[in-house]
Amino acid sequence: MTQLISHPSGPLSGAVQVPGDKSISHRALMIAGVAVGESRIEGLLEAADVLATADAMRALGATVERDATVERGGVWRVQGRGVGGLVEPGAVLDMGNSGTAARLLMGLLAAHPFTSFLAGDASLSARPMERVMAPLERMGAGFVARSGGRLPITVVGAEAPVPISYEVPMASAQVKSAVLLAGLNAPGMTRVVEPRATRDHTESMLRHFGVEVAVESGAGGGRKITLTGEPEITGRDVDVPGDISSAAFPLVAALLVPGSRVTLRGVGVNPLRTGLLETLREMGADIALDNRRDAGGEPVADVTASASVLKGVDVPAERAPSMIDEYPVLAVAAALAAGTTRMRGIAELRVKESDRLSAVARGLRACGVDVEEGADSLSVYGRGEAPAGGAEVAVQLDHRIAMAFLVLGAAARQAVRVDDGAPIATSFPGFRDMMNGLGAGVEEAGA
Ligand code: S3P
Repeated sequence: MTQLISHPSGPLSGAVQVPGDKSISHRALMIAGVAVGESRIEGLLEAADVLATADAMRALGATVERDATVERGGVWRVQGRGVGGLVEPGAVLDMGNSGTAARLLMGLLAAHPFTSFLAGDASLSARPMERVMAPLERMGAGFVARSGGRLPITVVGAEAPVPISYEVPMASAQVKSAVLLAGLNAPGMTRVVEPRATRDHTESMLRHFGVEVAVESGAGGGRKITLTGEPEITGRDVDVPGDISSAAFPLVAALLVPGSRVTLRGVGVNPLRTGLLETLREMGADIALDNRRDAGGEPVADVTASASVLKGVDVPAERAPSMIDEYPVLAVAAALAAGTTRMRGIAELRVKESDRLSAVARGLRACGVDVEEGADSLSVYGRGEAPAGGAEVAVQLDHRIAMAFLVLGAAARQAVRVDDGAPIATSFPGFRDMMNGLGAGVEEAGA
């Protein structure tokens, strides 16, 4: 384990490009892998989670290569196998730390007539997979899982996949996407009804590849998504925007460290992902979006954050899907705000890479912040000043816990340590260099 320490920082400044969107990168590789012909993906996130998907698609018969003719990273070429054309892998598919890779891939595998084996690290092997197995069983697949529906899992793909109409019980883009990806190889209409709109990158990426996807707004902010299976899809060029879930860390650091001003270029600002920006603005954050444009069906902007005096707010449960991965760093912002920030309807945080509700509560307490952890809520009692810091936080194989507390270290009175910086590589390998380039002091502990 590599301990990292983040020292109280002077003003942060500069303009940087955050790495490619993780959700979109997984989808680009998987959908390109079942298209006919070549796709060229630009801006792909080259981090462990996405590389696990790249390896899996290769094992399933697609050609997936980094384009060596381009100097800067992130340009990849995929030769797909066509819908239904994946082949039985010769070895266990190791999905590492990535829930998105595992769950979306289970959708593809469920609709191919062969058996495959999925494994992951200790964090992923503790996460619930029943939520994707249940609909995929209805589509004809079989599963053998460890107790509690956990990885390692054997997937027995359907000989003749059956299209279904499925109401997803929780707001989960991963479950929605798994069913839609399985539906690609099922004859007829596959329909997913979600209780609340979640990130729609699968729908947008499928459309980008020429699949007809119908979306209707449902009751209470939900959506009904329908596609007709067995389409012919052909390779496309894909432009992956910067990941707002990664941008969130330097952005919040800039808001919290007095005198800072940081621009994050080319960040994806899909409205189903921007709940953090909305919440921070309600708290009084100075955040500007400029140079709005479109990148292959996804809205993109340059985001500038300037140091701001924040106040506590109530974050409604309805907003959770649009900022689900941003609660750890929001809680850090709330620790410096004046007054209480109440986050509700966030039980799903308990089944992320770690139990984020308890990891955040424990870490903040250790740093001298008053918090109250409920079954599906978190209240942070900010005092409108820098908290003490000076603690070591247990990361529990969770990249976002590590990055959130390193951001806190930059804004606290004393440095904050995290016990393991390695998980950051799952989503944001250049995090430390980027933060230090902006003026932060993040280094290996003891270095
Ligand atoms: C993701 C969906 C969300 C999110 C995860 C990425 C995706 O998970 O937390 O980091 O790419 O579809 P859930 O579907 O479990 O909410």
